[in-house]
Amino acid sequence: MPKPLNLIVACAENRVIGRGGKLPWHIPEDLKFFHAETAGQICVLGRVCFETWPRATLDGRRPVVISSRLLAGARRHERQRVEGVRLAATVPDALAIADALPGEIYICGGQRIFEETLVLDRPMRLHLTLIHAEVPGDTFFPEWRHLPWREVSRRESADANVRYTFFTLEK
Ligand SMILES: NC(=O)c1ccc[n+]([C@@H]2O[C@H](COP(=O)([O-])OP(=O)(O)OC[C@H]3O[C@@H](n4cnc5c(N)ncnc54)[C@H](OP(=O)(O)O)[C@@H]3O)[C@@H](O)[C@H]2O)c1
Repeated sequence: MPKPLNLIVACAENRVIGRGGKLPWHIPEDLKFFHAETAGQICVLGRVCFETWPRATLDGRRPVVISSRLLAGARRHERQRVEGVRLAATVPDALAIADALPGEIYICGGQRIFEETLVLDRPMRLHLTLIHAEVPGDTFFPEWRHLPWREVSRRESADANVRYTFFTLEK
C-alpha cells in the first residue's frame, strides 16, 4: 500500500503559484504553516524550488530533488553531493525513493510536479492555501476543483493585503 501523498500549495483564484522564480506574494502566516507542515518530512520538489528554498535541508526535512542537471553534476563530481539530499530524474523515481523512506511525503512543487502527482491514483491530501485574488504569474497549479475531494477542514484568514483560506482536502 503506497503512502498518501501530501500536496502542499498556496494558490491564487486563477491558479497562479509563482512569478519569475519566486512566490508572487508575501504571506507570513502561510510561510509559517508551510514550514511547520513540512518540518521533519520528506519533501519532493523540483530543482528551481530547491535552489530558491534554503530551508529545504533544515528542520529535519529530507528533500528528494527532481533534476536532470543536478543528477548529471552529482555523477560527474561524486564528492560534491549535498549531505542528505536525494536526487531523482523523474516523478516516479522520486516517489520510489520517498516511499522507501520513513515519514510523510510532501509534494512541494513546482508546476510539472504538481501536474504529474495530482492525477495519480493513490491516496492524497491537498493542503491548499487559496488566496482570494487574481494574481499575475507564470507558474500554475493544475485545476483541482473538479476532482472528488472530501473537505477535512477549512480556516479563513487574512492579512493587511489579502484574504486567504487554509483548506485540507482528501481523495
Ligand atoms: N505557491 C506555491 O505553493 C509554490 C509551490 C512551489 C513552487 N512555487 C513557485 O513556482 C516556481 C518554481 O516552480 P517551477 O515549476 O518553475 O520549477 P521546479 O519544478 O521547482 O523546477 C523545475 C526543474 O525541476 C526539474 N523538474 C521539474 N519537474 C520535473 C519532471 N516532472 N520531470 C523531470 N524533471 C522535472 C527540472 O530540472 P532540470 O532542469 O535540472 O532537469 C526542471 O527544469 C517559483 O516561482 C516558485 O515560487 C510556488
